[in-house]
Amino acid sequence: MKKTTRVNHPPRIELPADNHALVAPIYQSVKFEFDSVAETERFLRGERAGFYYSRGSNPTTRQLELLLAELQGREDCLVTASGVGAISQTLLALTSAGEHIICFVESYNPTRYLIRRVLGRFGVTHTLLSIEDLAGVERALADRPTRLVIFESPTNPVTKIADIEALTRLARAAGALTVLDNTFAGFHQHGGYDVDLYLHSLTKYASGTGDVMGGAVIGRSALIRPLRNEFAALGGTLDPHAAFLILRGLKTYFVRYRAQCSSAGCIAQRLAGHAAVSRVHYPGLPTHPQHALAARQMQEFGSIVSFELRGGADAARRFADSLQLFAKTASLGSTESLVVTAQMMGGRELNAELQRLSAVTDGTIRLSIGLEDTDDLLADLERALAASLG
Ligand SMILES: Cc1ncc(COP(=O)(O)O)c(C=O)c1O
Repeated sequence: MKKTTRVNHPPRIELPADNHALVAPIYQSVKFEFDSVAETERFLRGERAGFYYSRGSNPTTRQLELLLAELQGREDCLVTASGVGAISQTLLALTSAGEHIICFVESYNPTRYLIRRVLGRFGVTHTLLSIEDLAGVERALADRPTRLVIFESPTNPVTKIADIEALTRLARAAGALTVLDNTFAGFHQHGGYDVDLYLHSLTKYASGTGDVMGGAVIGRSALIRPLRNEFAALGGTLDPHAAFLILRGLKTYFVRYRAQCSSAGCIAQRLAGHAAVSRVHYPGLPTHPQHALAARQMQEFGSIVSFELRGGADAARRFADSLQLFAKTASLGSTESLVVTAQMMGGRELNAELQRLSAVTDGTIRLSIGLEDTDDLLADLERALAASLG
């Protein structure tokens, strides 16, 4: 064999059957070969297990899928290149022209954009309600056949809590699927509810370090199986190296999530007592209007703490610019703390009534609490709150 050939057919390293890598290798291969055409054909007919082309499936992404399904307490999972990829591919795969969706003002902006602007172009209609408006949900479900209800809990940014039991009961009775973007709550929460599909951005708590993007949809096999072909055709596949990084991040998921929640709880309490702050939104605070519901549904309340600055937009800018340990940028759930002002959030397309329902004001601040020392974060916040007063 000439060396030009050899570099394309390097020596194979096979591990003996009794010799195992403690960390699974990354299958950084797009293609997988069977020993014969006959076996390849059997695979393509769905008559045997294996891997063929990584846009459809890959051992490293599959390992991540099986782990996430187990964490969320469901049978199967599909991973995607980003959280928005999981949302868009799920919505595109599940809906047809003429069908109707119920969605909420208090949801991630790209989700609303996808429903309104993208699905709307293909003749999918929607009703936009407040997550607190259960009577409205009941009415909308009675008014017309509904394909699915898509919601979040806690919601972004003001941490309203969806009544998951009531929403899933109403949707089930009307024959609509429920899709819960569970990114804020994490994989270990809300699994006991009758939710059909869970969406996650793996960019957040799963990877934890803010250096990789990914998404997932999790549910029972009968729902996930038909989605696999659609997702492969839509093409937003997660790369195996990204899957490996997310698997690595998940090893510390529980430790990180709990530490971040504990710090968030302390920070929420401290903010609640500060003169510059008119209101704190954190489901773990007894003063949160839905604290009892949150305590029923969640074991931990998340690492997002939002609050209202009395001084409005100017105070919000002064506050965020004065912080030293919080980066002024999007995202959440990773080890570094982040801050977003209302002016940095989307939602400008909402009319005045919907903006009122979203509960975001000029002085709304969203913090994502990381893994820094809680006292250091508190000192930084105290300094910035003093600066916000001008
Ligand atoms: C609730 C929620 N869902 C989905 C996403 C999208 O995730 P990604 O950035 O991985 O596309 C985000 C991102 O902020 C989010 O907050």
